[in-house]
Amino acid sequence: MTSPFFLYCLVLSLGASALAKPNGANATKSLKIIDGTEVVPHSRPYVVAIRTTINDIEVLCSGAIISDYLVITAATCLNGASEAEVILGAHNITNGAETGREVIKANQFIIHEKFDTVKLLDNIALIQLPKKISFNANIQSVKLPDVTDIIDAYIEKEATALGWGRTSDTTQDTSDVLRYQNLTIIPVLMCELSYALNIRPTQICTTGVERKGICRGDAGAPLVLDGVLIGIGSYGSTLGCSIGFPSVFTKISSYLSWLMLSN
Ligand SMILES: *[C@@H]1O[C@H](CO)[C@@H](O)[C@H](O)[C@H]1NC(C)=O
Ligand SMILES: *[C@@H]1O[C@H](CO)[C@@H](O)[C@H](O)[C@H]1NC(C)=O
Ligand SMILES: *[C@@H]1O[C@H](CO)[C@@H](O)[C@H](O)[C@H]1NC(C)=O
Repeated sequence: MTSPFFLYCLVLSLGASALAKPNGANATKSLKIIDGTEVVPHSRPYVVAIRTTINDIEVLCSGAIISDYLVITAATCLNGASEAEVILGAHNITNGAETGREVIKANQFIIHEKFDTVKLLDNIALIQLPKKISFNANIQSVKLPDVTDIIDAYIEKEATALGWGRTSDTTQDTSDVLRYQNLTIIPVLMCELSYALNIRPTQICTTGVERKGICRGDAGAPLVLDGVLIGIGSYGSTLGCSIGFPSVFTKISSYLSWLMLSN
């Protein structure tokens, strides 16, 4: 029988893998929605796909619309990129003919000034779109947490992660269609042991039990609880996305004052 402690020690020695790391980079793995379920098309109109090029490698991420000109995502999705293509109102991202979608190119990024590229702390960033978003049924903003939520660690709550990332460790392909996965939030302490103590209360961890989690292509993946954006995908284990290790998200309520000052 494998004890959880054994698992944690194993991860401790192997370290974390960046969810937003580019497709094709073997050193670290990015987030994906493992074994997720396809969402009802356009039922999550605040989710956007983000394509960038970092070190000559194409990167797929997701993010969320938080105002009529701001998209929130992970810093790993933008750090080193000069331009981002933001796809709004999409369900099947490979279908360019999809009706109601809008593609906006942007080059104004606000990357958290303390973003730690090694420990992946403060992995949060904003894209300022060059024009206001025209909202419609397929394109909407998401609610942010209240100031009173700052102390909530959401323990044992089931939240929904959404993204176009890879759906298993055995495929190189990301998903055409937006998928979701319900993930149970665990105490940060349990996650700390998995990731070399580089976990802070400014993060949210979800259990990897039942091999659920986020994967390559899911950096910036919105984590939503009761219609509120509580997290964005940050990273998973270097060992694989579906081997039982927690997924790590940046906790939005820890950054409310940063968000207010940044827009
Ligand atoms: C990733 O690893 C595989 C197998 O080891 C190798 O064939 C492939 O070239 C590597 N890809 C990159 C981008 O390093
Ligand atoms: C997504 O769109 C592409 C291009 O139109 C199509 O080939 C593919 O089958 C679609 N995927 C799904 C899951 O519907
Ligand atoms: C995920 O959670 C939502 C809301 O609680 C629920 O409606 C949905 O059926 C769940 N989906 C799966 C695949 O468990």
